[in-house]
Amino acid sequence: MANTILVGAQWGDEGKGKIIDVLTESADIVVRTQGGNNAGHTVHIRGQKYILHLVPSGILRKKKICVIGNGVVVDPVSLVEEIRVLKQLGIRIGGNLFLSETAHVVLPYHRELDAQREILKGKNKIGTTKRGIGPAYGDKAARTGLRVIDLVNPKRFKQLLELKIKENNEILRAFGAQPLSFKKVLAEYRAAGDYLAPFVTNTVILLHEAVRRGDDILFEGAQGTFLDIDHGTYPFVTSSNTTAGGSCTGSGIPPHRIDRVVGVMKAYTTRVGEGPLPTENAEIADMLHAMGREFGATTGRPRRCGWFDSVATRHACMVNGIDELAVTNIDGLDSVETIKVCIGYRDGRQRFDYVPNDIELLARCQPVYAEFRGWRSPTHEARSWKELPAKTRSYLKALAELTGAKLTIASVGPGREQTIFVP
Ligand code: GDP
Ligand code: IMO
Ligand code: MG
Repeated sequence: MANTILVGAQWGDEGKGKIIDVLTESADIVVRTQGGNNAGHTVHIRGQKYILHLVPSGILRKKKICVIGNGVVVDPVSLVEEIRVLKQLGIRIGGNLFLSETAHVVLPYHRELDAQREILKGKNKIGTTKRGIGPAYGDKAARTGLRVIDLVNPKRFKQLLELKIKENNEILRAFGAQPLSFKKVLAEYRAAGDYLAPFVTNTVILLHEAVRRGDDILFEGAQGTFLDIDHGTYPFVTSSNTTAGGSCTGSGIPPHRIDRVVGVMKAYTTRVGEGPLPTENAEIADMLHAMGREFGATTGRPRRCGWFDSVATRHACMVNGIDELAVTNIDGLDSVETIKVCIGYRDGRQRFDYVPNDIELLARCQPVYAEFRGWRSPTHEARSWKELPAKTRSYLKALAELTGAKLTIASVGPGREQTIFVP
């Protein structure tokens, strides 16, 4: 029996969706515990591509229970659309998906405020996904948010929403933005509320019943360690705890019930949105983009790319308590002659072996690199550790050693079958 937290060890988009799909085979329940539809988790199964935003990636396997936990912020209209699209693709949804009563609801004024704040920030913008995530978590912390339990109570929702629209329209007018129509929002959200009502339950009780039965729970992290509101490159972060602790608060499962933490990381680094990225490199970005890779799953934006940063992943290992590593997108480096890995940061004569908190200092930091000879042969058909080129194996072993955790999964392509379990 193992309850497993899976987190992103970099800046998001590490390939969590793919690894969740692989690990779901031996899990009973998959839970999302933070973030919202800012997430985009891609899974390829037998040539079909699925992109999950709010629904746990475990939904793609039959007979698995999926839970959207209390720590998630849910845009109900977008969730309904996601369920419809999945159903159209032949995925069975009903009796296998549960939505927490206490998850907070993302409303149109959150999205509008998100966009307006970004405009106001100008060149200092965060580069958010404009899904209203920051303002929704802001309302939650300010204790002025609406929750799923309110959404599915028509009378209460109408009363609460009317006040919220009134208040937020004042703010939107001050920004010079269009105010919202209470009637229109009410109709749209009530319809979504009715659609979602059968999924809504007390997920804390549901999960604890599962724990008592001895079910294996897989916690599907969204975003990545350096987008964490506390541990990331603030303010260029998202608004939730993306690190392992968020899985407990966002589900109601206590820390001592967790058996292992798996950290997912790419064999290089990517980031979408603004903020420091010490190993950013135009050459590797051009190479990956020319291969048609590294475009955002949620917004389609080209991701910024750089070399693997072991200062960052070691830090991620520390704050998440990562036991095991899954390294993805190894095949992305197949054609590179000399592969660089960041092993330290330098600012003038000062050297760092950890990620400094001062954002201006971090932005100034120059990476100190170690170099590895590339394997320069295709890896996407390898199915076992032995089938990987010797140089690939030494590169991966070095990444794990520098990061400080055990390498257990190596991924050489987006497909389920392109997964190597490391002996
Ligand atoms: P997530 O947000 O962490 O789930 O990651 P995304 O789905 O946003 O981005 C990861 C991208 O890498 C997706 O397009 C995946 O299909 C793809 N991917 C994952 N693992 C591999 C791999 O080993 N090789 C290749 N070529 N693509 C991969
Ligand atoms: P997954 O789960 C990559 C980034 C945004 C922006 C910052 C804040 O697919 O890894 P937000 O909309 O959350 O207020 O944006 O966080 N971001 C992500 N980057 N992957 C994600 O999710 C992300 N979710 C948010 O680009 O820089
Ligand atoms: Mg993603």
